[in-house]
Amino acid sequence: MGELKRLLGHLGPYRRDLLIAALMLFVETAFEVVIPVLMADIIDVGVEMRDIPYIFHKGVQMGACAALALATGLLYARFAARAAYGWGARIRDAQFQRVQAFAFSNLDHFETSSLVTRMTTDVTVIQNAVNSGLRPLVRGPTMLVLGIGLSFWLNAELAMVFLVCLPILAVILFFVVRKVAPMYSRLQRSMDRLNNVVQEGLTAIRAVKAFVRGEYEEERFETVNAELMETSQKTFHYAVLNLPAFQLTMYTATVLLMWSGGNMVLAGSLQVGDLTGVLSYVLQVVNSLMMISNVFLLLTRSLASARRICEVLDEEVVLTSPDGAVAAVPDGSVDFEHVSFKYRADAKEHALSGVDLHIPAGQTVGILGGTGSAKSTLVQLIPRLYDATEGVVKVGGRDVREYDLQALRDAVGIVLQKNVLFSGTVRENLLWGDPDADDEALWAACRAACADEFLERMPKGLDTDLGQGGVNVSGGQKQRLCIARTLLKRPKVL
Ligand SMILES: Nc1ncnc2c1ncn2[C@@H]1O[C@H](COP(=O)(O)OP(=O)(O)OP(=O)(O)O)[C@@H](O)[C@H]1O
Ligand SMILES: [Mg+2]
Repeated sequence: MGELKRLLGHLGPYRRDLLIAALMLFVETAFEVVIPVLMADIIDVGVEMRDIPYIFHKGVQMGACAALALATGLLYARFAARAAYGWGARIRDAQFQRVQAFAFSNLDHFETSSLVTRMTTDVTVIQNAVNSGLRPLVRGPTMLVLGIGLSFWLNAELAMVFLVCLPILAVILFFVVRKVAPMYSRLQRSMDRLNNVVQEGLTAIRAVKAFVRGEYEEERFETVNAELMETSQKTFHYAVLNLPAFQLTMYTATVLLMWSGGNMVLAGSLQVGDLTGVLSYVLQVVNSLMMISNVFLLLTRSLASARRICEVLDEEVVLTSPDGAVAAVPDGSVDFEHVSFKYRADAKEHALSGVDLHIPAGQTVGILGGTGSAKSTLVQLIPRLYDATEGVVKVGGRDVREYDLQALRDAVGIVLQKNVLFSGTVRENLLWGDPDADDEALWAACRAACADEFLERMPKGLDTDLGQGGVNVSGGQKQRLCIARTLLKRPKVL
């Protein structure tokens, strides 16, 4: 529950809409509950006495109640939709911001596909819980209390039927919820796995085709797809048990009421209007119980999703700028002092151990080593993509942990081994390095990175469209563009 409450904290300006929606619902329910009382009056007084003006009078009152219920119902729908979708957008926003702040090691904790599910499906689940769950959540208990109260007021003896039906229903409800609740987490995890296979299969579709692994990928997809189907079927198989159980109790109650109530009417101890009144309340109360149980299911489902969303929001960003951070890097000297590093706290071996390295500003250094000997790792410590486990990494004579992260990363240019270009033109991609660069600066950077030659041959030059993820250029051309992009930053350390 704590997680849902915390997420409610993200409502922001939509809190007001949610409150108004709940209020509207309350009013709507109250108007609706009054209708059977008026109905009983019409039958018992109006019809009995053949008093047409009285019937007319009460009829108008009923009509007014129905119209007001309709109007408040419409208002409710409007405010609830605004609250739900506004809330969902804000949660997605919060998650996205959080993920953007993640350090590399935070990202190692979550699979991309899982982050995608958490930002889409999980948010949709809790959004729907508000949009379609608020109504039964408010109406259910209100109708339950008012319905039981008013039917006892109409005829206490008949209303005893509640004492029989309600405990049975409560027991069924309890078992269904207990059975279904844990299955929702499993459902979302299956969804994760499906997304994972879809994502891998699609991003690597070229490799899949090159190795003619299409069939294998299909099999993998079928497995997770079937798993998702089975989990969903099982979950909802139990969840829909609600309906028949409720119908059974509802009709049993109706038959019981008709039978005992009919006998009472025949014996003259009960008026027909009271019987119909109590009957409508039984329908309302059972209906409200069904709503409450659906709310329980919705709640448990959204709890599972809320937990997953909170995991993202709660993930402690391991790399942050310190208070009173140094905002400027004086020069490009790099020093490693007894640096050791491992990717995970529980890893057995260090990727780097006891590294001492002193590079004065302005020098060019090459680092050689076999594959997997931690060259990239070493470089990633300089712009603080990861923090050293032991020892100190210094840039410009200061510990990198003293700098403002943005200032440090602006001063350290890095072309990652696995680099990415974004959809858009060459120019748009290069401007990542320096948003204010003019064409001359862009061409100069391209010349330095040896990217000018092929760009000049392209008819649109800098305005060439790269396509999604830069598929329109060759691997080497892509690397050169990435180098040009980094050169444009004019970093102190490259
Ligand atoms: N994100 C990561 N999580 C855990 N271990 C990692 C991670 N990245 C790299 N490693 C491990 O750290 C070691 C060093 O990797 P690194 O990428 O620094 O090697 P490299 O020297 O750059 O190799 P190459 O020449 O192939 O690029 C490797 O054994 C690798 O398995
Ligand atoms: Mg490497």
